[in-house]
Amino acid sequence: MNWLNDNVNLLALIGAAAIIIISVFVIGKYLRQMQNDKSGGELAKDNWDGIGEYKNPLPIGWALSFIGTIVWGLWYFLAGYPLSAYSQIGEYNEEVKSYNTKFESKFSNPDQATLMGMGEGVFLVQCAPCHGVTGDGMNGKAANLAKWGNEEAVISAILNGVKGSDYPLGEMPAGLLDKESATAVAAFMMQEVSSAKKTKNSALVETGRALWATCSACHGEDGKGMDGQSANISHYGDAQFVVNVLGMGKKGAIGNMPKFNDGRLTNVQKLAVGTYVHSLAK
Ligand code: HEC
Ligand code: HEC
Repeated sequence: MNWLNDNVNLLALIGAAAIIIISVFVIGKYLRQMQNDKSGGELAKDNWDGIGEYKNPLPIGWALSFIGTIVWGLWYFLAGYPLSAYSQIGEYNEEVKSYNTKFESKFSNPDQATLMGMGEGVFLVQCAPCHGVTGDGMNGKAANLAKWGNEEAVISAILNGVKGSDYPLGEMPAGLLDKESATAVAAFMMQEVSSAKKTKNSALVETGRALWATCSACHGEDGKGMDGQSANISHYGDAQFVVNVLGMGKKGAIGNMPKFNDGRLTNVQKLAVGTYVHSLAK
């Protein structure tokens, strides 16, 4: 190894040698001083078992740095860190917020293809762990999203009841109507109340209209859920219904679907994943 060809190594070597020489010199000086120096000056009047104390004034540099640390401490407490509310977490939150604002404005007018692409991405990260990559619910671990959000699912909701979200009206009881009436009211709901605006059983719409009172008691005449008292089924069959589910969370047989309203998804991401999930519902 050729030490002396490298400037940095050479400098470090000279520095190390200098430190050793200076240390030896300084230590030697103080050792000699301790051996030879005599103490002097005026003694304080207190003395402890013969050990006294000189009346030396506080060194000015020491006193200044002592006062300096007090001033700095006050500044740090009041204006620097805790009380000025600066924190790394706060700075992180600010950054996330400004990024999200940029994100929202970039995607303020997303077209269908953008929503589907973004929605699939969000779904794979946030939803697939429970609903499965294809949304099939992984053998009943969570809702099978292909069998959800359509007319058959409304019929099954009426027959089997719905629960799991914290709506003020509580659960929707099972067996409100028999299969035949349920099929008719589902036809009416899909055609007239929900945003789907179509039904597979258009012949039953008028029969269903007469039965709608059973449902409007909790969902309101317009199906909007009476200001949050129960689910807003006027959105059944579009992305907004999924967005509402994300806001409420849902308890299921295997556990809870969290509420996604803690800011981990932006509004346009919720709309996107709603659009994607809705496309899974056959
Ligand atoms: C921790 C697991 C979990 C995660 C993550 C999760 N879900 Fe769910 N989801 C559930 C459970 C449990 C249910 C309740 C229904 C059931 O038991 O099948 C459910 C139900 C649903 C329903 C049906 C709601 C209804 O009213 O019937 C939709 C739609 C849904 N989830 C969409 C999503 C979307 C979109 C995401 C991602 C943003 C997501 N879920 C993430 C577990 C989860
Ligand atoms: C006793 C009040 C009540 C009545 C009556 C009622 N519902 Fe509901 N319904 C609810 C509540 C509450 C929810 C939300 C439950 C939850 O998600 O926890 C709901 C949810 C739903 C859903 C959403 C299902 C899903 O997958 O999230 C549909 C669709 C629905 N109701 C349709 C109907 C129809 C059609 C009728 C008439 C036959 C009806 N409801 C009668 C209270 C009611």
